[in-house]
Amino acid sequence: MNDVIKNILSRRTIRSYENRPVERELIDVLLECGKFAPSAINMQPWHFTVVESRKVLDEITAEVKAQLLLSDNEYAKKNSSDPNYDTFRTAPMAIIASGMKESRYGESDCAYAVENMTLAAHSLGLGSCIIASFRPAFTGKERERFMKLLKIPDGYEPYFALAVGYSKKFPTTRAPRREGTVNYITEK
Ligand SMILES: Cc1cc2nc3c(=O)[nH]c(=O)nc-3n(C[C@H](O)[C@H](O)[C@H](O)COP(=O)(O)O)c2cc1C
Repeated sequence: MNDVIKNILSRRTIRSYENRPVERELIDVLLECGKFAPSAINMQPWHFTVVESRKVLDEITAEVKAQLLLSDNEYAKKNSSDPNYDTFRTAPMAIIASGMKESRYGESDCAYAVENMTLAAHSLGLGSCIIASFRPAFTGKERERFMKLLKIPDGYEPYFALAVGYSKKFPTTRAPRREGTVNYITEK
């Protein structure tokens, strides 16, 4: 097994972080890896917002909570009413990947960029967590305020966030891989 494969197989989602910032040089490496993800017709239809402000992440979390409490999803309601609920999982920072709405594959291209960044983070000794559950913050009355605050360009939609930081707890157990997800076609 080479180092790239070992890195892919050992990466985990981290949901508990140390209370210390991530160095700018490391963040820049993550962004460079994100920008070199493949994209349909090489459109690179993404914009990255680096949020190093815990205050802003807390404001987004508060609005996610408010929106989920209005929803009829009992599971989401229960989770978000936990007083320790944090959309960004205690991370000191997050990178938000927004996609060009007019790009046919904008959302998946952002996902490839975020996957590159999460793997890069792991290889650099950082933990990370891909997050889609911040999206409700952009569905209500706070949407325009957050779009401005995060400087998301016109025509882009925030699709994924990557919470990043130094891991406090690394998961020890892992769900088995689902059976029957591969088949081969070999007839000539
Ligand atoms: C598109 C996507 C959205 C996700 N959203 C969240 C999220 O909002 N909050 C969270 O804690 N984890 C989120 N995750 C992380 C998954 O729960 C995690 O990848 C999965 O449980 C497998 O764990 P592992 O990454 O440690 O193998 C998301 C992952 C993906 C790919």
